[in-house]
Amino acid sequence: MNSPGWATREFFLNNLDTFRAIYEARPIRDNAGGMLSTHMFYSWLTAKTLNPELIIDSGTYKGQSAWLFKQACPNAKVISFDVDTSQRKITCEGVEYVDGDFSQYDWSGIPGKSLAFFDDHQNAYNRIQQCNWFGIKTIMFEDNYPPQQGDCYSPKKILSCSGFRDAEASQSKNKPEKISMRRKIAQKLTRKLQDPNSQQSQMEQFQAIHIKRNDWDKKILESKLEAYIEFPPIYQCDFTRWGDAWDRNYPTPTPLKGFISSQEAINSTDIYANECKAYTWICLCKLK
Ligand SMILES: C[S@@+](CC[C@H](N)C(=O)[O-])C[C@H]1O[C@@H](n2cnc3c(N)ncnc32)[C@H](O)[C@@H]1O
Repeated sequence: MNSPGWATREFFLNNLDTFRAIYEARPIRDNAGGMLSTHMFYSWLTAKTLNPELIIDSGTYKGQSAWLFKQACPNAKVISFDVDTSQRKITCEGVEYVDGDFSQYDWSGIPGKSLAFFDDHQNAYNRIQQCNWFGIKTIMFEDNYPPQQGDCYSPKKILSCSGFRDAEASQSKNKPEKISMRRKIAQKLTRKLQDPNSQQSQMEQFQAIHIKRNDWDKKILESKLEAYIEFPPIYQCDFTRWGDAWDRNYPTPTPLKGFISSQEAINSTDIYANECKAYTWICLCKLK
């Protein structure tokens, strides 16, 4: 699969220091459950490089990602979606916050140069179909989980032909805050769906879903993709965020700055090293 031409290791390395200062100025100091430095770096760099007119931020949470996109592209329109807006801690000038799902917005008249960023743990296959329909060709997925992990059907799973089985049960030990957040949202959604006045919502991630192993999702996706990149980790630790070793179960691009032990990550004065375990194969899909 082709990578976007601009997305080279040299370009990433050359921009790491510039982003440090932006990350240092972030308004949400504790963004556990949301993006940390590595993923924020690639999201900022992609937005800044592509300079879209419109950025869709699906998964507002406390508001950090919408803030980030405004730093990258001050002139872009940023629309930030969440189905649980009670979690938002900040309001950024120039950002439109929407209580609802991206698929239920009026996208008629959408600018040609738009970037959609999904950090909402929904089914990526559906998200790509929706983007294609709305005319959005440049799409990022923050939680691009590998086959055996995570709570959503990701591009990495599609391209691995693994299907999807919710790994929530096996992860609840390791990511308590994300799981309880997900439960809260599921309860809220159930209430919304029971309300006859609320719009029907496509939220199958919150129903028990199982997608069987298949290669047809991969074939269709590949036929729609012009370019795809999994951004490399900046540092890679000896153990994954799930506590197991990085091995052939987790095919990963070579880290930009190298391999470190968990102890070195904890002791490091480099924020990219400290937070390296938060990496989840963040990716960019460019549709034809
Ligand atoms: C991991 S957090 C997002 C973190 C945020 N992007 C950041 O970097 O700080 C995931 C968010 O997705 C939201 N969410 C769940 N389903 C959603 C949907 N269908 N549309 C938009 N947001 C959704 C959750 O309420 C939660 O706030």
